[in-house]
Amino acid sequence: MYLTKEEERILDGEMGEARQLAMEVVVKVGEVMNAEKLIPVKSAHISGVSYKNIGDEGLEFLHELRDKGGMFTVKTTLNPSGIDLDKWSRMNSDEKFARKQVEIISVFREMGAIPILTCTPYFYVDISAGDHLAWAESNAVLYANSVIGAFTNREGGPLAVFEAIVGKAPYVGLHLKRNRFPSIIFDLKNVRDYVKERGLYANLGYYIGYVAKKGIPLIRNIPERLREKDTLKLFLAAIGASSGIGMVILENISPEYLNIRREDLSCLETLAPDVKEIIDTSEKIQKSNLEDVDAILLGCPHLSLNDIRRIAMFFKYRKPKKRVILFTARQLKRLAKKYIELLEKNNVEVYYDTCMVVADLRRMNVTSCIVDSAKAAYYLTAQGYDVKILGLDEVLRVATE
Ligand code: F3S
Repeated sequence: MYLTKEEERILDGEMGEARQLAMEVVVKVGEVMNAEKLIPVKSAHISGVSYKNIGDEGLEFLHELRDKGGMFTVKTTLNPSGIDLDKWSRMNSDEKFARKQVEIISVFREMGAIPILTCTPYFYVDISAGDHLAWAESNAVLYANSVIGAFTNREGGPLAVFEAIVGKAPYVGLHLKRNRFPSIIFDLKNVRDYVKERGLYANLGYYIGYVAKKGIPLIRNIPERLREKDTLKLFLAAIGASSGIGMVILENISPEYLNIRREDLSCLETLAPDVKEIIDTSEKIQKSNLEDVDAILLGCPHLSLNDIRRIAMFFKYRKPKKRVILFTARQLKRLAKKYIELLEKNNVEVYYDTCMVVADLRRMNVTSCIVDSAKAAYYLTAQGYDVKILGLDEVLRVATE
């Protein structure tokens, strides 16, 4: 693999032990993947932040990197942690857990990370079409590639840390224009009306990921509401949960769609799923006969300003009769203040910095829940929770019954 003079000097340890180690890992990965060179990235987003996920081993590894002089050389943001940094005792989080979590965030901060602690960095970090990134959160990767037209592979948590230190990633996979071409077509003509009516965008995304598994699906005949950013994030997160996919091409949405010629698609397989296939696939990650639940959970991926406004407006006139818990980014504390005050006045719980999957829901007295997110359903079901997925409108209606 070609290395610049500067990269060679880093590899020789001339710029410190941590950068040398990081460069060794990034180069090794590049070589395994047959990269011709490294590409500078504009930003990195790290996903292994919760103490629940990385544990003492992860914390020790971060301490070591920091002690060796590890500093991020590009804008580096963090995914949700295991607690709300201000309201962790209200979440009934374990004190030791909270202490360890704060320590993890402090070490990342000392290394230069910006602790936005959200999985929706695409709403807060300045990125544009054509930017190269080293992002590690699957929903963020899918959004950056498929909606914004940025270039990032779906990095593993530790690799994103090393790439953030060297400020570069192997020039392979989705960094290369020639690889950003569809491998299969999903035509939604048979399910578009049903999905729209029931708001089951997450179930649809889960199905597409589950069937395609990898590659780049081209998605046609997209339901109208799926053109909205907030619906897209739910849909793309679900694709990321059921597959290793890092990018889809959305008809008339993805910048790449403009480069596709009709004749290039003639050799691709086209699937036109029916409603039953979508329902059957999402049955695998939920309990459809769940009647009574401990709580309604929204915010996987983190709720946006629009989402918060919409939910607040709904509850302005109809009080929730079930426990409702929302997860969002701390950036919205100020931006969505009036809506959040309205929600809290109606006993809706709002947490920042964390999410339903990486927090400890059992300590919050939740063992069964309704969500609008297939990604949340997938991970919570795997953690032993009883989960049901409904479209957002139905979730809100159920909350008031
Ligand atoms: Fe985000 Fe947590 Fe879901 S990190 S995408 S809210 S699992």
